[in-house]
Amino acid sequence: MARILLTSGPTRQYIDPVRYLTNASSGRMGCSLAEAAVAAGHEVIIVSGPVSVTYPEQATVVWVNTTDEMLSAAREQFAQCDGLIGVAAPCDYRPEFVQDQKIAKTGQPLVLQLIETPDIVATLGAEKKDRWVVGFALETEDRRFRALVKLEKKSCDLMVLNGPEAMNSEENHVEVLAKDGSVVATIDGSKGEVASQIMQIVGERLIDA
Ligand code: C5P
Repeated sequence: MARILLTSGPTRQYIDPVRYLTNASSGRMGCSLAEAAVAAGHEVIIVSGPVSVTYPEQATVVWVNTTDEMLSAAREQFAQCDGLIGVAAPCDYRPEFVQDQKIAKTGQPLVLQLIETPDIVATLGAEKKDRWVVGFALETEDRRFRALVKLEKKSCDLMVLNGPEAMNSEENHVEVLAKDGSVVATIDGSKGEVASQIMQIVGERLIDA
């Protein structure tokens, strides 16, 4: 039995009190992974952005809004976990200035200066010590190459590669990639089936290793 931290869902970066930037993530893959991990007998802690999926009741859920909040909640939880599965789609940019009042329309273009938010998987990967980290990569071109670059850059043990068709879909097609560049598995099916197989690989290669 392991204690697994999952980051799941999108994050929001507010521009003003009512408008925000976000990512098109439903949280379904995170929810399916949480279900598969609970079914395999693991303890699951989820740090989730705003989603409408129902996480398994056996999991502990910490709700967050922004990428910075997701990072600090995940970092706090990671200290007591054996590994991280980073399936969230955190918003990679935030406005440099957040307006206190709703921005009024002027008929002119609105220019926003955006700055990068921290990368949660990369930050926790760099601090992981004897814990394991599984990342997800959604790529549209040079898919395997880009996913392997991220695997290395973010100090992951496995990287799950999926395409944009995964967004807001019940189905998924993924490749699980290892540090040596090998394709550990190619999985096609519902997100539930994909999640069970990913958890089986995580169990064999990272938890019981
Ligand atoms: O966005 P990108 O394709 O680089 O995401 C790859 C991995 O990094 C995913 O596992 C995602 O959860 C994670 N990530 C993160 N924090 C970010 C951006 C991505 O943890 N700010």
